[in-house]
Order: sequence, then C-alpha cells, then structure tokens
Amino acid sequence: MGWEFTLPVLRYGNRFRKHRRMMQQHLGHQAVTSFRPMQEDQVRKFLGHLLAKPDNFISHIHRLVAGMIILITYGHEVESDDDALAGLVERVMYMTASAGSVGTTLMDLLPILRHIPAWVPGMGLKRLALEIRQVVDKVMVVPFSEVKEEKASGTARPSIVANLLDEYEEMNVVDHEHEEDIMVFGMTIYSAGIDTTKSTMTTFFMMMTLYPEVVKRAQAEIDSVIGTDRLPALEDRRRLPYIDCILRELYRIQPPLPLGFPHSSTRTEDYRGWTIPNGSMAIANIWQMMRDEKVFPDPDMFSPERHINRMTAKREFALDGDGEYIDDDSDLTVEEDPSSIVFGFGRRVCPGKFFVDTVLWMTMAKVLASFDIKPYIDPVTKLEELPLFEFENDAICYPKPFKCTIVPRSAKHSQMIQAEVRE
Ligand code: HEM
Repeated sequence: MGWEFTLPVLRYGNRFRKHRRMMQQHLGHQAVTSFRPMQEDQVRKFLGHLLAKPDNFISHIHRLVAGMIILITYGHEVESDDDALAGLVERVMYMTASAGSVGTTLMDLLPILRHIPAWVPGMGLKRLALEIRQVVDKVMVVPFSEVKEEKASGTARPSIVANLLDEYEEMNVVDHEHEEDIMVFGMTIYSAGIDTTKSTMTTFFMMMTLYPEVVKRAQAEIDSVIGTDRLPALEDRRRLPYIDCILRELYRIQPPLPLGFPHSSTRTEDYRGWTIPNGSMAIANIWQMMRDEKVFPDPDMFSPERHINRMTAKREFALDGDGEYIDDDSDLTVEEDPSSIVFGFGRRVCPGKFFVDTVLWMTMAKVLASFDIKPYIDPVTKLEELPLFEFENDAICYPKPFKCTIVPRSAKHSQMIQAEVRE
C-alpha cells in the first residue's frame, strides 16, 4: 500500500534507528515543549468552534487534531473544514483502515497471495491495496514538495520537515535515501498520530455524555481549585488529579490501537517454557489487558474513580513543573497507570506520547471547565438519545458516529470562552 518505509513497519536496523532518532529529536519530551504555545492556540480555537457549532463537534475534533499535526509537520495551517491536505490525509487513513488491521489480513498470513494478479476474483484486497498506494504516494509527495518550494521562495514556516531539510542542506551532499527518509518521516507522523488522537478525543465526548456524574465531579474539582474566572491551563495539572484519572480511564476503556502494531522477534527466545522462533509475529492484546478483571473489577464500567488511589508518587514524578509528562522509563504497571501500555512496548513504544498527552489533557480540562456535555434530545419525541458504546472494528478503534448536546455552563462561561478565543 506504500507504507513500507514508515516507522511502524520498518524492520529493526539502521534505518529504523535513524527514524527513531529523528522522532526523539522532534517529539521527545524536551522537544514538544516548544509546541506548547501552538497547542494552546489550537485548543482555544477548538473551544470557539464548539461554541459556534456544537453539533459539529466531530469535525471540530478532526480539524483540531489534523490541524495541529499537519502544522507541526509541514507548517501548513488548516484554515477551514474543507482544507485539501487535511481532506487527503483523512481519505488515505480511512482507506488504509478499511483494508484491515496490520498483520491480521489473509495476505499477511499467506504472503504468497501477493503474487496473484489483482484481476483474479477474490483478490479484492489487492485491488484495494493498489488503489490506496496511489493516494499514499500523493499524500507523501504533495506536502513535502510544497515545503521545498516554500523554502526556495523563503516563505516556509517552521516545521519538522523544514527543519530536517535545513539540516540536509547543511550536510552539503546529495543523498536520495535521506531525502526519501524525510519525506516518509512526515507521512509517518500524521498517519500514526491523527486517528489515534481523534479516537481518544471522540471517546471522551462519548463517555462524558454517558456518565454525567463524571462531568460534575470534574467541574467541581476545577471550580474549587481554579475558580470560575479563568480556564485551567497545563500548569494547573498537578492540582487537578481527577482530570488525569479521566484520561487514564479513557485509555483503559478503549485503547485506540487495541492490538498495538504487530512486533516480530529478532531472535529465537524461550519464554515460560515455550520456544518463540526468530521472525514470529507477536500481537499484544492491549484491549484484553485493560479488561483484566483481577486488575480492573467491573471492567466495562467507565470509572475514573478506580485510579484515584492508584495515583502513586511515581506518577507525580512523571510530570514536570509545568504539568508536562516526562518519560522516566518508569516501571509503572498497567494497574498504576494504563498509559504505561496504551502506547505500546519496548523500543517501538509510541514516540508521539508526550505530544498527545499534553493535547488531550489540555483539551479535556478546558472543555470540562467551560461546557456541559449532555445527551442529545430528539427534537420531535423530546426523548434523550444516548450514544451506544460502539466502535468501528478497524485497526484504529474509532467511536461510531453519535450525537450529544454541548452547551456553555453559563453565560459567564460563554464569555470566558470568547475571551480565550480572542487571546
Ligand atoms: C492517543 C493517542 C495515541 C495512542 C494511543 C498511540 C498508540 C501507539 C501504539 C500502541 C503504538 C505501537 C507501539 C508498539 O509497536 O509497541 C504506536 C506507535 C507509534 N505512534 Fe502512537 N499513539 C498515539 C498518538 C500518536 C501521535 C500523536 C504520534 C505522532 C505525533 C504517534 C506516532 C507514533 C509512531 C511514529 C509510532 C511507530 C513507532 C515505531 O514503530 O517505532 N502516535 N502508537
């Protein structure tokens, strides 16, 4: 499908290490702090969009998340809902997801099928893969070429790709593989980052609609700690532990990548009496781990409360003075913190976790402080229509479309939102 040089499917080796280094350089804990003003700005705009058109919250979430990630990657600002690049990215991700979970399709299990021509009946997946490849090629080349042109004309805005191209120019050598790496790197960030983040953010609105008592408790915490004259900021994070409990419970109840990405063993290993041959595919069932009844009693219940007494000092230390999450390579168990497994494992662990942790916390805290989230009321029957806890069964689990009612908590809150948007 054209994804073969992106990090999640790169085999361990020099190229893999190079891409991980580039990820660390641009998305590591220190690096992401430079995105903070942009993140705050985008979240403020999101609040404004929610205030203006609350029913369109799903497209606002897309614009917030895709906008932020495209902005950091290419310096391209998504100005409207019909932005061509954001639309193309959405299309390619939708098409790829529809081809099935990585490592679990018939073609993954019987790779020889790849050699059967696409026109043979029953090879629909191959036809789809070829179609996807064309869109992937386009989405990889178009924004990358735009950054190059902008650099040439001196109009490029700061971005990860522009930065990597600057470094490449300074190297003063022609290295086509390196240029390809930069191009693929851009695509890796948004392909891995957008839908996963959108999934958790949309699940947040679903759960807040279904569990009004959680909204009330979060608002009570915010009101007592921050008051009602301003909205919470990341610096307040340590004093608002319940918001963190909600985030942990969101990760637990519906990990966006329930099976992570498949890994492959690089040598033969003995594990608890089993021999795992070199090259075996290993799929971690994150979803199941999050539903282990011994660790999480009544696992289908959304209960941020279950994390309150598990907030150990270790987690406290994982936040820096500004409330930003630090990778301490901590040995937290899933019980202590579901975010210790929702981002995967070992040297493949998600490099976007610092970026996303800040965005999710900030968005949730500001939304809960300023809006009530309630069930949708059918205008004809006047009855409540609750969302169903249902998700698309794709590689990235995404809530099925649902409706909810999002209203400012009061006229004062509405003014506060407007003031934030104007800032
Ligand atoms: C709630 C949001 C997110 C979740 C739950 C999530 C989860 C994951 C998981 C489970 C993996 C597989 C790790 C493994 O193989 O063990 C992964 C990989 C990855 N994620 Fe994320 N992710 C999220 C957001 C992001 C963001 C925002 C970015 C980029 C800005 C990102 C970039 C990546 C990349 C590049 C990989 C591949 C790493 C590799 O194979 O070495 N992710 N993520």
